[in-house]
Amino acid sequence: MAINQGKVEEELFQAQAHLYKHVFNFLGSMSLKSALQLNIPDIIYSHGRPITLPELVSALQMDPAKSSYLYRLMRLLVHSGIFSTTEVPKDNGEEEGYDLTPSSRLLLKDNVPSLSPFVRAMFHPAIVHSSEYLGDWFGSNKPTPCQTAHGIGFWEYLNQDQEFNRLFNEGMVSDSSMMNLVIKDCKSVFEGFNSLVDVGGGKGAVSRIISESLPNLQCTVLDLPHVVENLQHSRNLKFVGGDMFQSIPTADAILLKLVLHAYSDEDCVKVLKKCREAIASKGKEGKVIIIDIVIDEKKDEHDLKDAKLFFDVLMMSVVTGREREEKEWQKLFLDAGFSHYKITPIFGLRSLIEVHP
Ligand SMILES: C[S@@+](CC[C@H](N)C(=O)[O-])C[C@H]1O[C@@H](n2cnc3c(N)ncnc32)[C@H](O)[C@@H]1O
Repeated sequence: MAINQGKVEEELFQAQAHLYKHVFNFLGSMSLKSALQLNIPDIIYSHGRPITLPELVSALQMDPAKSSYLYRLMRLLVHSGIFSTTEVPKDNGEEEGYDLTPSSRLLLKDNVPSLSPFVRAMFHPAIVHSSEYLGDWFGSNKPTPCQTAHGIGFWEYLNQDQEFNRLFNEGMVSDSSMMNLVIKDCKSVFEGFNSLVDVGGGKGAVSRIISESLPNLQCTVLDLPHVVENLQHSRNLKFVGGDMFQSIPTADAILLKLVLHAYSDEDCVKVLKKCREAIASKGKEGKVIIIDIVIDEKKDEHDLKDAKLFFDVLMMSVVTGREREEKEWQKLFLDAGFSHYKITPIFGLRSLIEVHP
């Protein structure tokens, strides 16, 4: 019997598939989480060539009865581009083997850069559970979904939970390791400066890269006391515990990497005003260097835009921040008393923004 499906019905079935894909996006995330938990990227790498399903089962020391489940997990992860498959020779023909893709190479533990710690940190309940409360939060008077979910703010959560604090800071260090790829192209950004304060610089990963690459630049990392305690100073890198809303040490230039996106416009203007005071002695030559997301509705291609918009909702879920378009950044700079700025999109998701008094 021939069934004639009309255009309307066809569109509805397509819409159903589109809807279900978005409903189940979280299963893509959880499959990635389990692959990381099982250490699959490192297992494939250590194997030295594409790994077949039986070899993977054996490397995982898993009950062979679970083999068909692992096949299904890997099928989804291959589909989403985390792994790939190639044919590998076998005694009597060929067999499919799983291989790494550029994305899963970034998950190898001992590689530089490795984003494995960042990805692990993002799967912590402090973050995942907060996002589950977005809907409830809209109807509540709590400042963030994180507060609705956990009863405390995100920075306080980090302060109270040492294990998450460690995981989060390691995650930020790993995210910053991507900077190694481009710092050589950015030396001119720091030219003419003798001192730099990395505000909210975490464990100093970016400052370490900059201070090693520019030995004449004195770098200071300012972060909350529990983040910078017991960190090793070097000849041109030191750590200071403090609160950027209270005071920022004087310097020729200030760096803010992934800090302002975590704060409301009002708080950003407060911090930027403190930055302007901190570089005042350098006059018009002083500079605030920001590394953060700039949403470009027209130019961002699909994956980039997805990632930027996910980051925006992440900021809404855990803190009071947001990802901004250029005109929103511009307003912050003008409100804080800066005169001009330049945006260079050189860090993939993130851009370099140079802001001048
Ligand atoms: C998203 S992390 C970015 C860390 C680092 N800049 C990087 O990109 O790796 C934000 C940082 O801001 C710090 N921070 C939050 N509130 C702060 C405050 N009031 N004063 C100084 N640092 C603060 C956090 O402890 C955290 O290390």
